[in-house]
Amino acid sequence: MSTPQPTSDPFGVYLHVPFCAKRCDYCAFATWTDRHHLIDDYLDALIVDIGRHSRLDHPRTMPAADTIFVGGGTPTLVDPSGLARVIEAIPRAADAEVTVECNPDDVTPAMMRTYAAAGVNRVSIGVQSMAPHVLLSLGRTHVPANVERAVDAVRSAGIPTFNLDLIYGGAGERLVDWERTVSGALALQPTHISAYALTIEAGTPLALEPERHPDDDDLADKYEVADAMLTAAGLVNYEVSNWARPGHECRHNLVYWHQGDYQGFGCAAHSHRGGRRFWNVRTPDRYIDLIRRDEPVEAAGEELPAEERRMEGLQLQLRLREGVPREALDGDELPGVVELHDDRWVLTQRGRLMANDVSLRLR
Ligand SMILES: C[S@@+](CC[C@H](N)C(=O)[O-])C[C@H]1O[C@@H](n2cnc3c(N)ncnc32)[C@H](O)[C@@H]1O
Ligand code: SF4
Repeated sequence: MSTPQPTSDPFGVYLHVPFCAKRCDYCAFATWTDRHHLIDDYLDALIVDIGRHSRLDHPRTMPAADTIFVGGGTPTLVDPSGLARVIEAIPRAADAEVTVECNPDDVTPAMMRTYAAAGVNRVSIGVQSMAPHVLLSLGRTHVPANVERAVDAVRSAGIPTFNLDLIYGGAGERLVDWERTVSGALALQPTHISAYALTIEAGTPLALEPERHPDDDDLADKYEVADAMLTAAGLVNYEVSNWARPGHECRHNLVYWHQGDYQGFGCAAHSHRGGRRFWNVRTPDRYIDLIRRDEPVEAAGEELPAEERRMEGLQLQLRLREGVPREALDGDELPGVVELHDDRWVLTQRGRLMANDVSLRLR
């Protein structure tokens, strides 16, 4: 393997694992439940693809990764040592953040030890809810006790930091269920919590059942409750849907939110290199086949015009605690929605609930 090039801006690597035991009926991610026979070939293809991008004669040689994020799908569905081999094939900086998304059902102490030995120093656990009836209505397979076991396994392996992923707005979720979810999550003392409103994605079974869709006022109440509880526990909101203990913000997501460069590996993975965005073929079958034939796996790409790129950058900054430069918004017209900090407009809690509307006013 060639020596990675040094770089000043953080560089991210995303690995996509497109396999799940069961598809949640709200999820539109590129994942399959009937292609597990492809797993070994898929992991081999990832290693070949990473090796090609590590060579100096590749048109887009990768610098050493500052952040690696293994997402899915369900990375914990594949053999941990197989996944560890793929992670170890990625050239990375000595202090790189290396995250794996974990489904609570799958996590074992041995799996976490294998990950830790491969350099994984952060996991993100898909908790979603601590209320069994809400987990059922979301179509999840785990129960809250699995989450506690998973967190114990993470700690016992010495993995220093972890995120808990929560969803609010599932059918049958009362405000008190959501409060219990947030307090149950906090009791596990995570360094990071993501809380996303259940989004209705076109083409999913949930999209066809309007009676199970969340209500906007209910979502707003739940956001406010979560923000108050998480803040009181010492987690700081640093992006509309993300809270962290200072120093534990997700560096990988910050690469995305700061429009940094990243390389995606695997089917349906997206990349952004030198102002160009591109994405890979969608299915694992096609990805494996193209890698075997030594052909490009890119499905399509685009170069954003400078003005669109600037506006997109402002929209992303607006969602972050750093906010947007004063001249990018007429914030005086939005009292209670944005506040001026160090000459930048930053969303208030009420403003965070209206981030998309405020985005329309950026200039
Ligand atoms: C795509 S999953 C991958 C990790 C893992 N399979 C899991 O479910 O936790 C990453 C996160 O996206 C969330 N997610 C997927 N579809 C969503 C939707 N329609 N609305 C809100 N969150 C969603 C999942 O619940 C999960 O926390
Ligand atoms: S939410 Fe996670 S577990 Fe459920 S189908 Fe999507 S990727 Fe798979």
